[in-house]
Amino acid sequence: MKIVPIRFANSELVLLDQRFLPARERYVRCRSAEDTARAIKSLVVRGAPAIGIAAAYGAYLGIAGAERVSGASVCAELRRVNALLSAARPTAVNLFWALERIEKAAAYTAIKGPAEQKKAVLLEARKIHADDKRACSAISRYGARLFPKGSRVITHCNAGMLATGGTGTALGVIYAAGKKIEMVYADETRPVLQGSRLTAWELARNRIPVTLICDNMAGAVMSRGKADAVIVGADRIASNGDTANKIGTYGLAVLARHHGLPFYVAAPASTFDLSLKRGEQIIIEERPSDEIKNISGKIIAPPGVHVWNPAFDITPAKLITAIITDRGVIKAPDRDRIAEILSRKPSCGKSGKKGE
Ligand code: MRU
Repeated sequence: MKIVPIRFANSELVLLDQRFLPARERYVRCRSAEDTARAIKSLVVRGAPAIGIAAAYGAYLGIAGAERVSGASVCAELRRVNALLSAARPTAVNLFWALERIEKAAAYTAIKGPAEQKKAVLLEARKIHADDKRACSAISRYGARLFPKGSRVITHCNAGMLATGGTGTALGVIYAAGKKIEMVYADETRPVLQGSRLTAWELARNRIPVTLICDNMAGAVMSRGKADAVIVGADRIASNGDTANKIGTYGLAVLARHHGLPFYVAAPASTFDLSLKRGEQIIIEERPSDEIKNISGKIIAPPGVHVWNPAFDITPAKLITAIITDRGVIKAPDRDRIAEILSRKPSCGKSGKKGE
């Protein structure tokens, strides 16, 4: 069953409000860049590719109403709007990547005047959306080949339809592997519970067998021989393969290594940040303490307690068996293998051996 978290129609960005899932299917309508930045910051829309897509439409909304006389001033307005959108969340590189594409589209058409520029920006936003859908399909096909019949896999956070413009990255692979997947263990993913609220919901809607576990149960699942692999998404991957993903991912990778299980990361080329040498250089978002001290408005910790709430952690490349991208599978990722695979043209992932 298709789930569409992002739609753009009639000059409105309509976002499925992921804060209320699975209890309620509610939509938020964004009519400005400010609305969009707020939606990204407050997790109405989340997941690295989805954040990038929403930001691209948000940038268009920011300039659509601007009455400007010259192409140069549309570019200036876009820079202001993009600064606002980029400040929403710092870790997922897809946000910055998408806004850079938008700025380039405006700059290339500056000579044609504001009306043409606005058209070009909207077209680019739609292209970013469509490209991500294609990237998900390619990742899914490449990744599905790695999972034999009867696979039982652990996943963390939500890297599915709700987080992308297509079927997802990590969950896209699971959908494509289909009947070969015997069970998905979904970590609940404290503190915001993307695993229980979103992944378990999304998989169940698509009739994929899913068992929900608390984050601290993954070790027990592995030690009892109930899992064959781990697959997660990514928010930013440095040029050496070190990967930022939802807090708790690093612990899972350590556990997987201890139990001799493959640990896969699935992500499109847009999630790589080749300007960074190592994972330590990735900025990790720190979120409000209330996310840890409350669950659904219920206080679960002493009000004055000191809290640390990093939203992501870094998994070193050496713990990653392979990164599944839309250009192919990068086994034992390192700088050279990453550079080689990313230099390939995007593919639909259909062809036989290429990329494996
Ligand atoms: O804080 P979130 O929900 O935006 O974090 C999302 C994740 O960590 C996902 O695993 C990642 O963005 C990949 S989504 C395809």
